[in-house]
Amino acid sequence: MGVTGSIAAYKSALLVRALVKEGAEVKVVMTPMAKQFITPLTLATLSKNPIVVDFYNPENGDWNSHVSLGIWADLFLIAPATAATMGKMVSGVADNLLITTYLSAKCPVAVAPAMDLDMYKHPSTQENMRILSERGAYIIEPAAGELASGLEGKGRMEEPDRIVAHVEAIFAKEGSMAGRNLLITAGPTCETIDPVRYITNHSSGKMGYAIAHEAANRGAKVKIISGPVTVKLFHPNVEIINVTSAQEMFEATKSNLDGADAVVLCAAVADFTVAEKADKKIKREKSDYNLRLTPTQDIAAWVGANKRPSTFLAGFALETNDELENAKGKLVRKNLDMIVLNSMQDKGAGFKTDTNKITIISRDGAVEEFPLKSKELVAMDILDNMERLQRCSKD
Ligand code: PMT
Repeated sequence: MGVTGSIAAYKSALLVRALVKEGAEVKVVMTPMAKQFITPLTLATLSKNPIVVDFYNPENGDWNSHVSLGIWADLFLIAPATAATMGKMVSGVADNLLITTYLSAKCPVAVAPAMDLDMYKHPSTQENMRILSERGAYIIEPAAGELASGLEGKGRMEEPDRIVAHVEAIFAKEGSMAGRNLLITAGPTCETIDPVRYITNHSSGKMGYAIAHEAANRGAKVKIISGPVTVKLFHPNVEIINVTSAQEMFEATKSNLDGADAVVLCAAVADFTVAEKADKKIKREKSDYNLRLTPTQDIAAWVGANKRPSTFLAGFALETNDELENAKGKLVRKNLDMIVLNSMQDKGAGFKTDTNKITIISRDGAVEEFPLKSKELVAMDILDNMERLQRCSKD
């Protein structure tokens, strides 16, 4: 990681920490000016690696090899990148260790600019970014908002968690699902009773979003048709389409099915909706009140009947009893290629929790049980199986 002399350098501490947390090994090269904004000690402690700033150690004359750093790295991320550094990168002004490292790097380069809005808008900066991008660098666009100058506009370095998502997307280009399109339904649906009430369920969206995140990290372009959830996901490979009711989820799934190589139906869709929705709040004057419910469209069954034969279809089954038998029935009825069973009988499985315990049943009848794991690890198991089964069906 390269850190240059911008006030946004304070965020590089959070960025280093986030990258290390994601499993990256991080070595930092700073420009001399960057040291005025954040100390090498902070970044060395967080990255667990010594920081390099100068061409040589004045105490003993030891050279810091910019060449070996550039060869060692899988990615050179410069965050924050000032206008001056981008200018030097373009014209090859190798007057500090960061630029010499850049000039000898063999890996992809990503740049997260940070500067005042007018500097950012200036044709020189824009031209430099265009040239860097033309030469293959990933530009992580700055965000708009309040700037250190007190002005408002575009120029704030992107937030560390979003930069991490961009880094994941860069590595995902070589992932096992690169070039594939995945459609996922996630979360609950809400069926309106009257303007203040609705019928819903306990789905948090965690399971569906974890699958989406993992698939995006493997290089897939993912669309999530999402019911109302509080869980958040930003990833350059993920588009989120928000819906509320089962009917809206059906319409959105239908109109996004074209081009999907695989579909994962993880949402907890209402099986019934309210037949007559009241347009005014229902009063409690009556001693009892009957709601008439009518069945919703079964999205899984519709996709199973209308998808292209090459589109892989995975469904879920959330059961309370006769789990395996019920799940196998759904697999056949809905024309699924695979079904993921989770049972309400298992502690830590199903709705809301950060964990899940699943059994995967495939079309050929194979049944594989997995232990209780985090939903992130469960997502990996599900995608590993989907990838394997899809490969087998092609061979
Ligand atoms: O969101 P979380 O809190 O993380 O919880 C995850 C989960 C428990 C919601 C998830 O793991 C799960 O089991 N999702 C499916 C829940 C469900 O509705 O199961 P089901 O057995 O009722 O439905 C079977 C399949 O048909 C599912 O793929 C479902 O998406 C689909 N379905 C159901 C009804 C309907 N009208 N349309 C559908 O497509």
